[in-house]
Amino acid sequence: MIRDHLRKGSPRATVGPRLALLLGAVSAVLTAGCVGTSCPPVAAKAGVRQARFAPLRQTAATAKRRIGTALMSRHLENARLRSLVAAHFDSLTAENEMKWGATEPQPASFSFAAGDELVAFAAQNGMRMRGHTLVWHQQLADWAKDLPADELRPAMRRHIEALVGRWRGRIAQWDVVNEAITEDGKLRDSPFLRLGETYLDEAFRLAHAADPEARLFYNDCGIEAGEGNTKSDAVYRLCARMRQAGVPIHGIGMQMHVDPRHWPTAEQIRKNVERFAALGLLVEFTEMDIAVGEMPGSLPEKLQRQRAIAHDIVAACLHVDKCTGITLWGASDADSWLCTERWARLRGRGPHYPLAFDADLDPKPMYFGILDALAGR
Ligand code: XIL
Repeated sequence: MIRDHLRKGSPRATVGPRLALLLGAVSAVLTAGCVGTSCPPVAAKAGVRQARFAPLRQTAATAKRRIGTALMSRHLENARLRSLVAAHFDSLTAENEMKWGATEPQPASFSFAAGDELVAFAAQNGMRMRGHTLVWHQQLADWAKDLPADELRPAMRRHIEALVGRWRGRIAQWDVVNEAITEDGKLRDSPFLRLGETYLDEAFRLAHAADPEARLFYNDCGIEAGEGNTKSDAVYRLCARMRQAGVPIHGIGMQMHVDPRHWPTAEQIRKNVERFAALGLLVEFTEMDIAVGEMPGSLPEKLQRQRAIAHDIVAACLHVDKCTGITLWGASDADSWLCTERWARLRGRGPHYPLAFDADLDPKPMYFGILDALAGR
C-alpha cells in the first residue's frame, strides 16, 4: 500500500523531506521482504536462450514416457503459455481445480467448470489427463473437516463418485489419496482417519467402481529416497498391504519436489523406483520441481546443478519400464507455487527458479537436462 501510495506520488509533495525519507526506507524494507519469492527470467544469463528448441514430448514419446505439467485454468488465458504447453507436454494435471475444496465447496454442490476447461485443453492437444486429487487433508472443503465418521463416509463416497464419474474415460490416472503418511511413517491424523485405517482401501474401491479404466495412484512427497527412509518404507508397506488385499491400486506417485538441502542420490531414487515397480505398481513422478535457492554458488552454477538433478530424476524413470511418466509442477518459473511469497519459504531462501522454462518462457539448463535424459544421453 505504501508503495502504491508513493508511486502515485500525489501526497509526496505535501510531506516534509524527513517523512519522505522515512517512507522511502519503509518501502525499501517492504521490497526487500519480497526478494526471494519472485523468479525473474534467467535463461539468457545462463546463455541458453534459443529461438527454436526441440519439443520435450516428441523425445519423451520415443522413450515411451509421458512428460507432463500442471496448470491452473487461469493459465489458459495466456496464449503464449498455452502454445508452449501444447508443444512440449503430453500429460496435464490440474494444479488446484480438482481438489475437494474447489470441486465441492458446499455439500453435494459441485463446481466442475474449471476442471472441465483443463480436460478440454488436454483433449484438444492430445494430452493425457491426470486427476489430482480425491482424498487429501489439505484444500479440503471446510464443511467436510469436522464431519463425524458416519457423515464423512457417505460424503467421501459421493465426492469420489461425482468426480471420477464426471470425467470417466477422460482422466487416465487419478491421485486417489494424497499425503496420507507422516514423516515418521504413521498414518496422518487427517479427518479421513476417522473412517478407520482402511479408509484408503475404501477410497480406491470407490474410484475403481466409478471408472474401471482409470489407473489409480497413491501420491506422496518425501518418498523418493529408498530403503531405510522411514516415510518411504511406510508408504512401501502401505502399498504392499493394499496390493496383497486386492485393493485396486495401480500406481505410486512420487511428487519429486526437490529440496537440495536434503535430497537422495540418483542411485537411491533408482532403487526406490525399482522396489515399488516390483510390487507390480506403475510409477509416476507427479510434481517435479527443483528449488535452487539454498544451493551454493552463483546463479549459473545453481542452474547447472539443477540441470544435473533433473537429468538424474528423468534417467531414473527411464531406467525402469514401469515408470511411465514425469510431470513438472508447472510450466514456467513465473507460475510456480515456489515463486509465491506464501510457498517459497518451504524451500528456504529464494528465489528458487524451480522449473524448466523461465519467466520469459525460454528454456533453462534444466530443460536441456530433461531433454538429454529423455533422449538417453
Ligand atoms: C499446491 C499448488 O501448486 C498451489 O497453487 C496451492 O496453493 C497449494 O497446493 N503437493 C501437492 C499439490 O500434492 O497439490 C500442491 O499444490 C503442492 C504440494
